[in-house]
Amino acid sequence: MISTTEQLEILSVPAGTNTTQTTQIDIRCGDSVRQLLELPNNSVHLCVTSPPYYKLRTYGGVQWDFENTARQLYRVLAPGGVVCWVVGDGVEDGSESLTTCKQKIFFREQAGFRIHDTMIYAKTNFAHPETARYHQVFEYVFVLSKGAPRVFNPIKDRPNVYAGKVGSYGINTFTRPDGSKGVRPRKINAEFGMRHNVWTGKTRGQEEGCNKLPHPAMMPQWLARDLILSWSSPGDTVIDPFAGSCTTGIEAEKLGRKAICIEINPGYCKSIDRDLCHDRTITSSAHIAAAL
Ligand SMILES: C[S@@+](CC[C@H](N)C(=O)[O-])C[C@H]1O[C@@H](n2cnc3c(N)ncnc32)[C@H](O)[C@@H]1O
Repeated sequence: MISTTEQLEILSVPAGTNTTQTTQIDIRCGDSVRQLLELPNNSVHLCVTSPPYYKLRTYGGVQWDFENTARQLYRVLAPGGVVCWVVGDGVEDGSESLTTCKQKIFFREQAGFRIHDTMIYAKTNFAHPETARYHQVFEYVFVLSKGAPRVFNPIKDRPNVYAGKVGSYGINTFTRPDGSKGVRPRKINAEFGMRHNVWTGKTRGQEEGCNKLPHPAMMPQWLARDLILSWSSPGDTVIDPFAGSCTTGIEAEKLGRKAICIEINPGYCKSIDRDLCHDRTITSSAHIAAAL
């Protein structure tokens, strides 16, 4: 578990201050299942990804195979490895498609995962105004694990309402060797407590302000960063099989993890390559070259 001080130090590293010259990001341009098939069993510690959502975006009409992706992710994950599957449900004929619900059931009943938690990523704005229901402002983060998670570094940045006050839980008694009873002093509440599992924050568009985004559906940097911090350790390998602009890989690298980014669209692969190549060496540019 990392301390609050360490977390705040990590969280306060401004983007772009990484001085590493050789990136730890392995970019593979191609279909997620085909690329996953090339990876050894038990070789990855964490997956943070947002796959194409139902029919919300077609990404040039490319197909993806949910069931085999789920099975391959389970195979490549090390025991205790975790998948953070960030998804939203589409609406079809005015009704929820239930795609995410069916995926969750498949993960558990067919692919072997535990459903460790269902977190909510709540956005501070909405993409499409609604008229027949309240505005839709959240996505699910299914936290799936291969057995019990091997790492959990809870982020403790939620201001504690009772900070500095003596805990209000019941009396904590104990029995001395001579049989008499004693009472342990109650703890003073810390300044910060562990987060809840509903995380609210900016969308990527809000994070970037006026900058033009290289991809239409980028994950907010804070969300990728905080999921990586929570469910992996430095030196671990983090994968995103639907990498888009490689948000997961870039955040993983900043946090001292190795990353594998798989993306089918050669245009996105090329822009990742361009964005990352300034003064670095990409581990597997050959994958990109072969795909273009
Ligand atoms: C929701 S976007 C991911 C965005 C990413 N999280 C980011 O921050 O940029 C989903 C991505 O999956 C890619 N994709 C679609 N089908 C794929 C497949 N079969 N294999 C690999 N990538 C695929 C799309 O091209 C798209 O870039």
